[in-house]
Amino acid sequence: MTSGALYEGKSKTVYPGEREDECLIRFRDTATAFNGEKKEELQGKGRLNAEFSNLVFEFLAKNGVQTHLIKVVDETSILAKKAEIVMVEVVVRNLAAGSFSKKYGVPEGTALRNTVLEFSLKSDEYGDPMMNETQITALGLAAQAELDEMSRQALRINGLLSGLLARAGIKLVDFKLEFGRYQGGIILCDEITPDSCRFWDAGTHEKLDKDRFRLNLGGVLEGYQNVLGRVRDVVRQV
Ligand code: TMP
Ligand code: ASP
Repeated sequence: MTSGALYEGKSKTVYPGEREDECLIRFRDTATAFNGEKKEELQGKGRLNAEFSNLVFEFLAKNGVQTHLIKVVDETSILAKKAEIVMVEVVVRNLAAGSFSKKYGVPEGTALRNTVLEFSLKSDEYGDPMMNETQITALGLAAQAELDEMSRQALRINGLLSGLLARAGIKLVDFKLEFGRYQGGIILCDEITPDSCRFWDAGTHEKLDKDRFRLNLGGVLEGYQNVLGRVRDVVRQV
């Protein structure tokens, strides 16, 4: 682990903040897929992801979603509220893709009759296995009221973000969220970036996200730069 770090994830490092209830999070250039089996340094990814996530978190905060973001420190770092991360990841799906398509034999891009919400255990060791609510509460990973609140916030974030991206000509196919406990409530933590979402061009369905890396399609950072530029323009107008 990087010296002085509190926690080192696959693409971000968390350092202590000046205050006990704050931390510094740095977005690194590391790209990983398939639970870390594929790994590369993509120079500039950290900066692109930090700017994208900050734009989105600021947009969500303006719309009443509580997030960990306190302030932007530099091109790759933010000061954040030091929340206790809920060890359950939330995936939201608007169109079939990725593991959903593979697992259930549904062609990528198939419309879904309702938004899909999935929970999984946040564990690199066990490969983030999907979990149902009774499994999560049985193991004490989160209380039912917390799962209800995370689901409510995830659906609200989906509505806000889908709308924002639609204005940028981008479809929000699916994405992953992490939440944390902070001062008695649940707040949005981690990141919202092309690493953690699937973004397709609304017209051509061209992939603009980490699937370019996972599937060796090339032009990974060009895709990230493309969505960042479009979303930056739209955020300035709202
Ligand atoms: P999946 O189709 O592989 O289950 O991924 C669903 C969404 O979650 C996709 O937008 C990518 C994101 N995701 C992460 O952010 N981290 C992960 O470890 C995985 C597996 C998916
Ligand atoms: N983030 C995960 C990994 O690094 C999986 C993925 O996003 O595909 O392995």
